[in-house]
Amino acid sequence: MRRTAIHVAFLSALIATSGPARSEIRVAAAVNTQAKGPRIRPEIYGQFAEHLGTGIDGGIWVGPDSAIPNIRGYRRDVVEALQLLKVPVVRWPGGCFADIYRWRDGIGPRASRPVMLNKWWGNTEEKNQFGTHEFFDFAELIGAKTYLNINVGTGTAGEARDWIEYVSSPTNSTLAQLRRANGREKPWKVDYVGIGNEMWGCGGNLKAAEFSAQARLYANFLKEPGMVLIGGGATGDDYSWTEEMMKGRGQLDAVSLHYYTLPTGDWAKKGAAIGFDEGEWAATFVRTRKLEDMIRGHDQKMDAVDPDEKLGLMVAEWGTWYDATPGTNAAFLQQENTLRDALVAATNFHIFHRNAGRVHMANIAQMVNVLQAMILTEGPKMALTPTYHAFRMYQPFQGATALPVVGSFPEYVFGKIRLPAVDITAAKDASGLLHIGLVNVHPKESAEVELTLPSYVGRSIEGQVLTARRLDSRNTISGVAEVTPVSFSKARWTAGKLRVSMPAKSIVRLTVR
Ligand code: AHR
Repeated sequence: MRRTAIHVAFLSALIATSGPARSEIRVAAAVNTQAKGPRIRPEIYGQFAEHLGTGIDGGIWVGPDSAIPNIRGYRRDVVEALQLLKVPVVRWPGGCFADIYRWRDGIGPRASRPVMLNKWWGNTEEKNQFGTHEFFDFAELIGAKTYLNINVGTGTAGEARDWIEYVSSPTNSTLAQLRRANGREKPWKVDYVGIGNEMWGCGGNLKAAEFSAQARLYANFLKEPGMVLIGGGATGDDYSWTEEMMKGRGQLDAVSLHYYTLPTGDWAKKGAAIGFDEGEWAATFVRTRKLEDMIRGHDQKMDAVDPDEKLGLMVAEWGTWYDATPGTNAAFLQQENTLRDALVAATNFHIFHRNAGRVHMANIAQMVNVLQAMILTEGPKMALTPTYHAFRMYQPFQGATALPVVGSFPEYVFGKIRLPAVDITAAKDASGLLHIGLVNVHPKESAEVELTLPSYVGRSIEGQVLTARRLDSRNTISGVAEVTPVSFSKARWTAGKLRVSMPAKSIVRLTVR
Protein backbone atom coordinates (compact mmCIF):
# COMPACT_ATOMS: atom_id res chain seq x y z
CA MET A 1 0.00 0.00 0.00
CA ARG A 2 1.42 3.36 -0.95
CA ARG A 3 1.57 6.13 1.59
CA THR A 4 -1.11 8.02 -0.30
CA ALA A 5 -3.65 5.37 0.73
CA ILE A 6 -6.42 6.66 2.91
CA HIS A 7 -6.77 5.69 6.54
CA VAL A 8 -9.44 6.87 8.91
CA ALA A 9 -7.64 7.43 12.19
CA PHE A 10 -9.55 6.79 15.33
CA LEU A 11 -8.16 9.60 17.40
CA SER A 12 -8.77 10.29 21.06
CA ALA A 13 -10.62 7.99 23.38
CA LEU A 14 -13.52 6.21 21.77
CA ILE A 15 -16.78 7.16 23.36
CA ALA A 16 -19.40 4.48 23.81
CA THR A 17 -22.76 5.65 22.59
CA SER A 18 -25.14 3.04 23.92
CA GLY A 19 -27.13 3.46 27.09
CA PRO A 20 -29.94 5.78 28.03
CA ALA A 21 -27.85 8.85 28.86
CA ARG A 22 -26.90 9.73 25.27
CA SER A 23 -29.20 10.54 22.43
CA GLU A 24 -26.77 11.80 19.86
CA ILE A 25 -23.38 10.78 18.51
CA ARG A 26 -20.83 13.59 18.16
CA VAL A 27 -18.18 13.27 15.49
CA ALA A 28 -15.41 15.73 14.65
CA ALA A 29 -13.47 15.05 11.46
CA ALA A 30 -11.25 16.84 8.96
CA VAL A 31 -10.82 16.22 5.25
CA ASN A 32 -7.44 16.95 3.69
CA THR A 33 -8.87 18.68 0.63
CA GLN A 34 -5.44 19.30 -0.93
CA ALA A 35 -4.18 15.71 -0.74
CA LYS A 36 -3.31 13.84 -3.92
CA GLY A 37 -4.98 10.55 -3.09
CA PRO A 38 -5.57 7.68 -5.49
CA ARG A 39 -8.28 7.91 -8.14
CA ILE A 40 -11.48 6.06 -7.29
CA ARG A 41 -11.81 4.04 -10.46
CA PRO A 42 -15.43 4.01 -11.64
CA GLU A 43 -15.12 0.20 -11.88
CA ILE A 44 -15.29 0.06 -8.07
CA TYR A 45 -19.02 0.48 -8.67
CA GLY A 46 -19.11 -2.60 -10.96
CA GLN A 47 -21.74 -5.31 -11.14
CA PHE A 48 -21.92 -9.07 -11.57
CA ALA A 49 -24.57 -11.05 -13.49
CA GLU A 50 -24.51 -14.85 -13.43
CA HIS A 51 -26.64 -17.57 -14.97
CA LEU A 52 -28.25 -18.34 -11.64
CA GLY A 53 -31.94 -18.44 -10.80
CA THR A 54 -33.63 -15.44 -12.38
CA GLY A 55 -30.52 -13.28 -12.35
CA ILE A 56 -30.43 -13.21 -16.15
CA ASP A 57 -33.42 -15.15 -17.52
CA GLY A 58 -36.47 -13.23 -16.31
CA GLY A 59 -34.40 -10.55 -14.57
CA ILE A 60 -32.56 -9.05 -17.55
CA TRP A 61 -33.56 -11.16 -20.52
CA VAL A 62 -37.15 -12.03 -21.44
CA GLY A 63 -36.68 -12.48 -25.20
CA PRO A 64 -38.00 -10.27 -28.00
CA ASP A 65 -41.38 -12.06 -28.13
CA SER A 66 -42.19 -11.52 -24.45
CA ALA A 67 -45.30 -9.64 -23.35
CA ILE A 68 -43.02 -7.84 -20.88
CA PRO A 69 -41.92 -4.59 -22.55
CA ASN A 70 -38.40 -5.12 -23.87
CA ILE A 71 -35.67 -3.76 -26.09
CA ARG A 72 -34.54 -6.56 -28.41
CA GLY A 73 -35.29 -9.04 -25.59
CA TYR A 74 -33.85 -7.07 -22.63
CA ARG A 75 -36.43 -5.88 -20.09
CA ARG A 76 -37.03 -2.20 -20.78
CA ASP A 77 -37.67 -1.34 -17.09
CA VAL A 78 -34.43 -3.00 -15.97
CA VAL A 79 -32.34 -1.51 -18.79
CA GLU A 80 -33.64 1.99 -18.07
CA ALA A 81 -32.95 1.64 -14.35
CA LEU A 82 -29.41 0.41 -15.06
CA GLN A 83 -28.77 3.22 -17.52
CA LEU A 84 -29.56 5.70 -14.75
CA LEU A 85 -27.15 3.86 -12.47
CA LYS A 86 -24.22 4.40 -14.90
CA VAL A 87 -22.94 0.86 -14.39
CA PRO A 88 -19.21 1.02 -15.21
CA VAL A 89 -18.60 -2.70 -15.82
CA VAL A 90 -20.48 -6.03 -15.79
CA ARG A 91 -18.90 -9.39 -14.97
CA TRP A 92 -20.44 -12.39 -16.76
CA PRO A 93 -21.29 -15.37 -17.08
CA GLY A 94 -20.33 -16.44 -13.50
CA GLY A 95 -19.31 -17.18 -10.73
CA CYS A 96 -19.28 -20.92 -10.38
CA PHE A 97 -21.25 -21.09 -13.63
CA ALA A 98 -18.26 -19.69 -15.56
CA ASP A 99 -16.28 -22.90 -15.09
CA ILE A 100 -18.99 -25.06 -16.67
CA TYR A 101 -19.91 -22.60 -19.43
CA ARG A 102 -19.29 -23.53 -23.09
CA TRP A 103 -19.31 -20.28 -25.04
CA ARG A 104 -20.13 -21.96 -28.36
CA ASP A 105 -23.50 -23.04 -26.90
CA GLY A 106 -24.49 -19.38 -26.65
CA ILE A 107 -24.03 -18.19 -30.25
CA GLY A 108 -26.03 -18.63 -33.44
CA PRO A 109 -29.81 -18.88 -33.88
CA ARG A 110 -31.42 -18.99 -30.45
CA ALA A 111 -33.89 -21.70 -31.35
CA SER A 112 -31.11 -24.20 -32.02
CA ARG A 113 -28.85 -23.49 -29.06
CA PRO A 114 -28.12 -26.52 -26.87
CA VAL A 115 -29.65 -26.93 -23.44
CA MET A 116 -27.26 -27.70 -20.61
CA LEU A 117 -27.74 -28.41 -16.95
CA ASN A 118 -26.63 -25.74 -14.53
CA LYS A 119 -24.89 -28.04 -12.09
CA TRP A 120 -24.10 -25.35 -9.56
CA TRP A 121 -27.46 -23.66 -9.32
CA GLY A 122 -30.20 -26.26 -8.91
CA ASN A 123 -29.43 -28.31 -12.03
CA THR A 124 -31.88 -26.14 -13.93
CA GLU A 125 -32.03 -26.27 -17.72
CA GLU A 126 -29.89 -23.50 -19.15
CA LYS A 127 -31.20 -22.78 -22.63
CA ASN A 128 -28.39 -20.43 -23.60
CA GLN A 129 -30.73 -17.73 -24.87
CA PHE A 130 -28.52 -15.06 -23.32
CA GLY A 131 -25.11 -15.77 -24.84
CA THR A 132 -22.12 -13.84 -26.13
CA HIS A 133 -24.01 -11.51 -28.50
CA GLU A 134 -26.70 -10.85 -25.94
CA PHE A 135 -24.13 -10.03 -23.26
CA PHE A 136 -22.10 -7.63 -25.37
CA ASP A 137 -25.25 -5.94 -26.75
CA PHE A 138 -26.57 -5.58 -23.22
CA ALA A 139 -23.32 -4.02 -22.01
CA GLU A 140 -23.46 -1.58 -24.92
CA LEU A 141 -27.08 -0.75 -24.13
CA ILE A 142 -26.34 0.18 -20.53
CA GLY A 143 -22.96 1.76 -21.38
CA ALA A 144 -20.84 -0.65 -19.33
CA LYS A 145 -17.39 -2.13 -19.88
CA THR A 146 -17.18 -5.90 -20.28
CA TYR A 147 -15.65 -8.48 -17.95
CA LEU A 148 -15.69 -12.04 -19.31
CA ASN A 149 -14.97 -14.71 -16.73
CA ILE A 150 -13.61 -17.59 -18.75
CA ASN A 151 -13.83 -21.30 -18.10
CA VAL A 152 -10.72 -22.93 -16.68
CA GLY A 153 -12.36 -25.72 -14.68
CA THR A 154 -13.90 -27.63 -17.59
CA GLY A 155 -12.46 -25.64 -20.51
CA THR A 156 -9.13 -25.17 -22.23
CA ALA A 157 -6.86 -22.25 -22.97
CA GLY A 158 -7.57 -22.85 -26.67
CA GLU A 159 -11.34 -22.47 -26.21
CA ALA A 160 -10.78 -19.30 -24.25
CA ARG A 161 -8.46 -17.93 -26.93
CA ASP A 162 -11.09 -18.73 -29.58
CA TRP A 163 -13.77 -16.92 -27.59
CA ILE A 164 -11.69 -13.75 -27.37
CA GLU A 165 -10.91 -13.95 -31.08
CA TYR A 166 -14.60 -14.50 -31.95
CA VAL A 167 -15.63 -11.46 -29.92
CA SER A 168 -12.88 -8.97 -30.62
CA SER A 169 -11.05 -9.71 -33.86
CA PRO A 170 -11.35 -7.14 -36.67
CA THR A 171 -9.74 -9.61 -39.13
CA ASN A 172 -11.20 -12.05 -41.62
CA SER A 173 -10.36 -15.08 -39.48
CA THR A 174 -12.94 -17.84 -39.58
CA LEU A 175 -14.05 -17.02 -36.03
CA ALA A 176 -14.40 -13.30 -36.79
CA GLN A 177 -16.43 -14.21 -39.89
CA LEU A 178 -18.61 -16.48 -37.78
CA ARG A 179 -19.36 -13.51 -35.51
CA ARG A 180 -20.34 -11.51 -38.59
CA ALA A 181 -22.51 -14.35 -39.86
CA ASN A 182 -24.23 -14.31 -36.46
CA GLY A 183 -25.10 -10.65 -36.88
CA ARG A 184 -22.24 -8.55 -35.53
CA GLU A 185 -19.95 -6.84 -38.00
CA LYS A 186 -17.88 -4.70 -35.64
CA PRO A 187 -15.67 -6.38 -33.06
CA TRP A 188 -16.55 -5.78 -29.44
CA LYS A 189 -14.03 -4.74 -26.81
CA VAL A 190 -13.24 -7.20 -24.05
CA ASP A 191 -12.08 -4.95 -21.24
CA TYR A 192 -11.44 -7.51 -18.50
CA VAL A 193 -10.84 -11.23 -18.63
CA GLY A 194 -11.18 -13.31 -15.48
CA ILE A 195 -9.17 -16.52 -15.55
CA GLY A 196 -11.17 -19.04 -13.53
CA ASN A 197 -13.44 -18.44 -10.56
CA GLU A 198 -13.01 -19.69 -6.99
CA MET A 199 -10.45 -22.21 -8.19
CA TRP A 200 -9.98 -23.35 -4.59
CA GLY A 201 -13.67 -24.47 -4.66
CA CYS A 202 -16.31 -24.77 -7.40
CA GLY A 203 -13.77 -23.81 -10.08
CA GLY A 204 -11.64 -26.91 -9.62
CA ASN A 205 -10.82 -27.63 -5.99
CA LEU A 206 -7.19 -26.79 -6.66
CA LYS A 207 -4.28 -25.77 -4.48
CA ALA A 208 -2.94 -22.26 -5.00
CA ALA A 209 0.31 -23.52 -6.55
CA GLU A 210 -1.58 -25.78 -8.98
CA PHE A 211 -3.82 -22.98 -10.17
CA SER A 212 -1.12 -20.34 -10.29
CA ALA A 213 0.67 -22.36 -12.98
CA GLN A 214 -2.56 -22.73 -14.97
CA ALA A 215 -3.37 -19.04 -14.70
CA ARG A 216 0.09 -18.23 -16.05
CA LEU A 217 -0.48 -20.53 -19.00
CA TYR A 218 -3.91 -19.06 -19.81
CA ALA A 219 -2.55 -15.52 -19.51
CA ASN A 220 0.15 -16.40 -22.00
CA PHE A 221 -2.45 -17.12 -24.69
CA LEU A 222 -5.04 -14.50 -23.78
CA LYS A 223 -2.97 -11.36 -23.27
CA GLU A 224 -3.82 -8.54 -25.66
CA PRO A 225 -3.11 -4.82 -25.55
CA GLY A 226 -5.69 -2.88 -23.56
CA MET A 227 -7.14 -5.96 -21.86
CA VAL A 228 -6.84 -6.49 -18.11
CA LEU A 229 -6.20 -10.10 -17.11
CA ILE A 230 -7.45 -11.14 -13.68
CA GLY A 231 -6.29 -14.36 -12.05
CA GLY A 232 -8.95 -16.18 -10.01
CA GLY A 233 -8.19 -15.15 -6.46
CA ALA A 234 -8.68 -15.84 -2.82
CA THR A 235 -11.65 -15.95 -0.50
CA GLY A 236 -11.69 -13.84 2.63
CA ASP A 237 -8.41 -13.83 4.51
CA ASP A 238 -6.60 -16.55 2.54
CA TYR A 239 -3.49 -14.43 2.05
CA SER A 240 -1.34 -17.39 1.06
CA TRP A 241 -3.45 -17.78 -2.10
CA THR A 242 -2.62 -14.23 -3.14
CA GLU A 243 1.03 -14.74 -2.23
CA GLU A 244 1.23 -17.80 -4.48
CA MET A 245 -0.56 -16.02 -7.33
CA MET A 246 1.84 -13.12 -7.04
CA LYS A 247 4.90 -15.38 -7.12
CA GLY A 248 3.81 -17.00 -10.36
CA ARG A 249 1.88 -14.10 -11.83
CA GLY A 250 3.32 -14.12 -15.35
CA GLN A 251 1.29 -11.65 -17.43
CA LEU A 252 -1.58 -11.19 -14.96
CA ASP A 253 -2.62 -7.60 -14.31
CA ALA A 254 -4.72 -8.36 -11.24
CA VAL A 255 -6.06 -10.99 -8.88
CA SER A 256 -9.58 -11.20 -7.52
CA LEU A 257 -10.92 -11.47 -3.99
CA HIS A 258 -14.35 -12.71 -2.92
CA TYR A 259 -15.90 -11.88 0.43
CA TYR A 260 -19.53 -12.13 1.46
CA THR A 261 -21.15 -10.56 4.52
CA LEU A 262 -23.18 -13.11 6.51
CA PRO A 263 -24.86 -11.66 9.62
CA THR A 264 -24.06 -14.80 11.65
CA GLY A 265 -20.85 -15.79 9.88
CA ASP A 266 -22.30 -19.31 9.65
CA TRP A 267 -22.96 -20.72 6.14
CA ALA A 268 -25.46 -23.25 7.55
CA LYS A 269 -27.62 -20.48 9.06
CA LYS A 270 -26.63 -17.16 7.60
CA GLY A 271 -29.39 -15.01 9.06
CA ALA A 272 -32.67 -13.65 7.74
CA ALA A 273 -32.94 -10.83 5.22
CA ILE A 274 -35.94 -9.30 7.02
CA GLY A 275 -37.34 -9.54 10.53
CA PHE A 276 -33.85 -9.69 12.09
CA ASP A 277 -33.03 -8.21 15.49
CA GLU A 278 -30.55 -5.52 16.49
CA GLY A 279 -27.90 -8.14 17.30
CA GLU A 280 -27.87 -9.27 13.66
CA TRP A 281 -27.96 -5.69 12.46
CA ALA A 282 -24.84 -4.84 14.48
CA ALA A 283 -23.05 -8.10 13.61
CA THR A 284 -23.66 -7.48 9.90
CA PHE A 285 -21.73 -4.22 10.02
CA VAL A 286 -18.88 -5.68 12.04
CA ARG A 287 -18.56 -8.50 9.51
CA THR A 288 -18.73 -6.26 6.48
CA ARG A 289 -16.01 -4.03 7.93
CA LYS A 290 -13.70 -7.05 8.10
CA LEU A 291 -13.25 -6.66 4.36
CA GLU A 292 -11.00 -3.68 4.99
CA ASP A 293 -8.53 -5.77 7.03
CA MET A 294 -8.65 -8.44 4.35
CA ILE A 295 -7.92 -5.97 1.58
CA ARG A 296 -4.95 -4.72 3.57
CA GLY A 297 -3.74 -8.27 4.17
CA HIS A 298 -3.87 -9.13 0.46
CA ASP A 299 -2.39 -5.76 -0.38
CA GLN A 300 0.64 -6.53 1.79
CA LYS A 301 1.28 -9.68 -0.22
CA MET A 302 0.94 -7.71 -3.44
CA ASP A 303 3.16 -4.90 -2.16
CA ALA A 304 5.98 -7.39 -1.81
CA VAL A 305 6.16 -7.70 -5.61
CA ASP A 306 4.36 -4.54 -6.70
CA PRO A 307 4.84 -1.61 -4.30
CA ASP A 308 3.57 0.85 -6.92
CA GLU A 309 0.11 -0.71 -7.03
CA LYS A 310 0.18 -1.36 -10.76
CA LEU A 311 -1.48 -4.73 -10.17
CA GLY A 312 -5.10 -4.59 -9.09
CA LEU A 313 -7.00 -6.38 -6.35
CA MET A 314 -10.47 -6.85 -7.85
CA VAL A 315 -13.17 -7.51 -5.25
CA ALA A 316 -15.07 -9.46 -7.89
CA GLU A 317 -17.79 -10.70 -5.53
CA TRP A 318 -18.99 -8.88 -2.42
CA GLY A 319 -22.24 -8.15 -0.64
CA THR A 320 -24.69 -9.64 1.83
CA TRP A 321 -25.70 -13.29 1.71
CA TYR A 322 -28.74 -14.28 3.79
CA ASP A 323 -30.91 -17.38 4.09
CA ALA A 324 -32.96 -17.56 0.89
CA THR A 325 -36.45 -16.03 0.89
CA PRO A 326 -38.76 -18.69 2.42
CA GLY A 327 -40.77 -20.51 -0.24
CA THR A 328 -38.23 -19.86 -3.03
CA ASN A 329 -35.79 -22.34 -4.58
CA ALA A 330 -32.78 -22.09 -2.25
CA ALA A 331 -30.42 -22.60 -5.21
CA PHE A 332 -31.67 -19.33 -6.73
CA LEU A 333 -30.17 -17.25 -3.89
CA GLN A 334 -33.13 -14.88 -3.76
CA GLN A 335 -33.22 -12.55 -0.80
CA GLU A 336 -35.00 -9.37 0.26
CA ASN A 337 -33.06 -6.14 0.32
CA THR A 338 -33.55 -3.59 3.09
CA LEU A 339 -32.19 -0.39 4.54
CA ARG A 340 -29.47 -2.56 6.13
CA ASP A 341 -28.23 -3.54 2.66
CA ALA A 342 -27.98 0.09 1.59
CA LEU A 343 -25.84 0.89 4.63
CA VAL A 344 -23.69 -2.20 3.99
CA ALA A 345 -23.18 -1.06 0.39
CA ALA A 346 -22.16 2.46 1.46
CA THR A 347 -19.79 1.08 4.12
CA ASN A 348 -18.11 -1.02 1.44
CA PHE A 349 -17.83 1.95 -0.93
CA HIS A 350 -15.96 3.77 1.83
CA ILE A 351 -13.63 0.80 2.27
CA PHE A 352 -12.94 0.69 -1.48
CA HIS A 353 -12.28 4.45 -1.56
CA ARG A 354 -9.80 4.21 1.31
CA ASN A 355 -7.97 1.46 -0.53
CA ALA A 356 -8.44 2.78 -4.05
CA GLY A 357 -4.74 2.56 -4.86
CA ARG A 358 -4.95 -1.24 -4.83
CA VAL A 359 -8.67 -1.94 -5.35
CA HIS A 360 -9.02 -1.33 -9.07
CA MET A 361 -12.48 -2.86 -9.43
CA ALA A 362 -15.30 -4.33 -7.34
CA ASN A 363 -18.40 -6.19 -8.50
CA ILE A 364 -21.36 -6.50 -6.19
CA ALA A 365 -23.09 -9.87 -6.20
CA GLN A 366 -25.37 -9.60 -8.04
CA MET A 367 -27.15 -7.25 -10.42
CA VAL A 368 -30.77 -8.53 -10.54
CA ASN A 369 -32.75 -10.95 -8.32
CA VAL A 370 -29.70 -12.72 -6.84
CA LEU A 371 -28.14 -11.96 -3.42
CA GLN A 372 -27.67 -8.22 -2.76
CA ALA A 373 -29.37 -7.15 -5.97
CA MET A 374 -29.96 -3.67 -7.36
CA ILE A 375 -33.26 -4.71 -8.82
CA LEU A 376 -35.92 -7.31 -8.03
CA THR A 377 -38.37 -8.54 -10.64
CA GLU A 378 -41.37 -10.84 -10.61
CA GLY A 379 -43.10 -11.37 -13.93
CA PRO A 380 -43.70 -7.88 -15.31
CA LYS A 381 -43.14 -6.16 -11.94
CA MET A 382 -39.92 -4.51 -10.85
CA ALA A 383 -38.63 -2.88 -7.65
CA LEU A 384 -35.50 -0.80 -7.11
CA THR A 385 -33.83 -1.93 -3.91
CA PRO A 386 -32.25 0.22 -1.20
CA THR A 387 -28.88 -1.01 -2.55
CA TYR A 388 -29.75 0.47 -5.95
CA HIS A 389 -30.33 3.83 -4.28
CA ALA A 390 -27.01 3.66 -2.41
CA PHE A 391 -25.20 3.03 -5.72
CA ARG A 392 -27.01 5.92 -7.34
CA MET A 393 -26.31 8.31 -4.47
CA TYR A 394 -22.57 7.56 -4.67
CA GLN A 395 -22.29 8.06 -8.45
CA PRO A 396 -20.36 11.35 -8.07
CA PHE A 397 -17.48 9.40 -6.50
CA GLN A 398 -16.84 7.49 -9.75
CA GLY A 399 -13.51 8.77 -11.09
CA ALA A 400 -12.93 11.28 -8.27
CA THR A 401 -9.74 11.51 -6.20
CA ALA A 402 -9.99 9.96 -2.74
CA LEU A 403 -9.11 12.31 0.14
CA PRO A 404 -7.95 11.36 3.63
CA VAL A 405 -10.42 11.82 6.48
CA VAL A 406 -9.19 11.88 10.07
CA GLY A 407 -11.21 12.39 13.18
CA SER A 408 -12.70 11.00 16.32
CA PHE A 409 -15.41 8.46 15.76
CA PRO A 410 -17.50 7.32 18.75
CA GLU A 411 -18.52 3.70 18.83
CA TYR A 412 -21.88 2.04 18.46
CA VAL A 413 -21.99 -0.65 21.13
CA PHE A 414 -24.46 -3.52 21.24
CA GLY A 415 -23.66 -6.20 23.82
CA LYS A 416 -20.14 -7.33 22.99
CA ILE A 417 -20.24 -5.80 19.53
CA ARG A 418 -18.43 -2.51 19.04
CA LEU A 419 -17.78 -0.59 15.86
CA PRO A 420 -17.50 3.04 14.79
CA ALA A 421 -21.03 4.44 14.61
CA VAL A 422 -20.21 6.82 11.79
CA ASP A 423 -17.97 6.31 8.77
CA ILE A 424 -16.99 9.13 6.43
CA THR A 425 -15.45 9.21 2.96
CA ALA A 426 -14.49 12.20 0.82
CA ALA A 427 -13.27 12.78 -2.72
CA LYS A 428 -12.66 15.65 -5.14
CA ASP A 429 -13.79 15.37 -8.74
CA ALA A 430 -12.12 16.77 -11.87
CA SER A 431 -14.13 20.00 -11.69
CA GLY A 432 -13.12 20.61 -8.07
CA LEU A 433 -16.41 19.60 -6.45
CA LEU A 434 -15.99 17.96 -3.08
CA HIS A 435 -18.13 14.88 -2.42
CA ILE A 436 -18.67 13.52 1.07
CA GLY A 437 -20.35 10.27 2.05
CA LEU A 438 -21.47 9.62 5.64
CA VAL A 439 -22.96 6.45 7.11
CA ASN A 440 -24.48 6.29 10.58
CA VAL A 441 -25.10 2.64 11.48
CA HIS A 442 -26.47 3.40 14.94
CA PRO A 443 -30.06 2.18 14.80
CA LYS A 444 -31.41 4.66 17.36
CA GLU A 445 -29.14 7.66 17.70
CA SER A 446 -28.75 10.59 15.39
CA ALA A 447 -25.25 11.95 14.72
CA GLU A 448 -23.99 15.51 14.84
CA VAL A 449 -20.93 15.64 12.58
CA GLU A 450 -18.57 18.62 12.51
CA LEU A 451 -16.39 18.66 9.41
CA THR A 452 -13.31 20.77 8.75
CA LEU A 453 -12.98 21.32 5.00
CA PRO A 454 -10.05 23.65 4.25
CA SER A 455 -10.62 25.93 1.23
CA TYR A 456 -14.28 24.94 0.89
CA VAL A 457 -15.65 26.97 3.81
CA GLY A 458 -18.93 28.71 3.08
CA ARG A 459 -19.51 27.13 -0.32
CA SER A 460 -22.94 25.93 -1.32
CA ILE A 461 -23.99 22.40 -0.42
CA GLU A 462 -26.47 19.99 -1.86
CA GLY A 463 -27.13 16.47 -0.76
CA GLN A 464 -29.35 13.48 -0.28
CA VAL A 465 -30.27 11.28 2.65
CA LEU A 466 -31.43 7.69 2.73
CA THR A 467 -33.11 6.34 5.84
CA ALA A 468 -36.35 4.61 6.83
CA ARG A 469 -38.52 3.78 9.79
CA ARG A 470 -37.44 0.21 10.49
CA LEU A 471 -34.11 -1.63 10.29
CA ASP A 472 -35.65 -3.86 7.63
CA SER A 473 -37.67 -1.30 5.70
CA ARG A 474 -37.66 -2.16 2.00
CA ASN A 475 -39.21 -1.56 -1.39
CA THR A 476 -41.57 -4.37 -2.24
CA ILE A 477 -42.31 -5.85 -5.63
CA SER A 478 -45.96 -4.92 -5.07
CA GLY A 479 -45.04 -1.24 -5.11
CA VAL A 480 -44.55 -0.20 -1.47
CA ALA A 481 -41.41 1.97 -1.48
CA GLU A 482 -40.18 2.56 2.06
CA VAL A 483 -36.55 3.36 1.24
CA THR A 484 -35.91 6.13 -1.29
CA PRO A 485 -33.44 9.00 -1.09
CA VAL A 486 -34.70 12.51 -0.50
CA SER A 487 -32.92 15.82 -0.62
CA PHE A 488 -30.98 16.68 2.52
CA SER A 489 -31.07 20.10 4.14
CA LYS A 490 -29.42 19.51 7.51
CA ALA A 491 -25.89 20.57 6.57
CA ARG A 492 -24.90 24.17 7.38
CA TRP A 493 -21.79 26.26 7.89
CA THR A 494 -21.19 27.35 11.49
CA ALA A 495 -17.98 29.05 12.64
CA GLY A 496 -16.04 27.78 9.64
CA LYS A 497 -17.14 24.15 10.05
CA LEU A 498 -19.70 22.16 8.16
CA ARG A 499 -22.22 20.76 10.63
CA VAL A 500 -24.22 17.79 9.47
CA SER A 501 -27.16 16.43 11.46
CA MET A 502 -27.64 12.83 10.42
CA PRO A 503 -30.62 10.70 11.39
CA ALA A 504 -30.07 7.31 13.01
CA LYS A 505 -29.48 4.44 10.52
CA SER A 506 -28.85 6.65 7.55
CA ILE A 507 -26.61 7.50 4.61
CA VAL A 508 -25.95 11.11 3.68
CA ARG A 509 -24.15 12.15 0.49
CA LEU A 510 -23.12 15.78 0.16
CA THR A 511 -21.57 17.82 -2.64
CA VAL A 512 -19.75 21.01 -1.72
CA ARG A 513 -19.30 23.33 -4.72
O1 AHR B 1 -22.51 -15.20 -6.32
C1 AHR B 1 -22.89 -16.51 -6.09
C2 AHR B 1 -21.71 -17.47 -6.05
O2 AHR B 1 -20.90 -17.17 -4.97
C3 AHR B 1 -20.77 -17.42 -7.22
O3 AHR B 1 -21.19 -18.17 -8.30
C4 AHR B 1 -19.51 -18.01 -6.66
O4 AHR B 1 -18.36 -17.52 -7.29
C5 AHR B 1 -19.58 -17.63 -5.19
O5 AHR B 1 -19.33 -18.72 -4.38
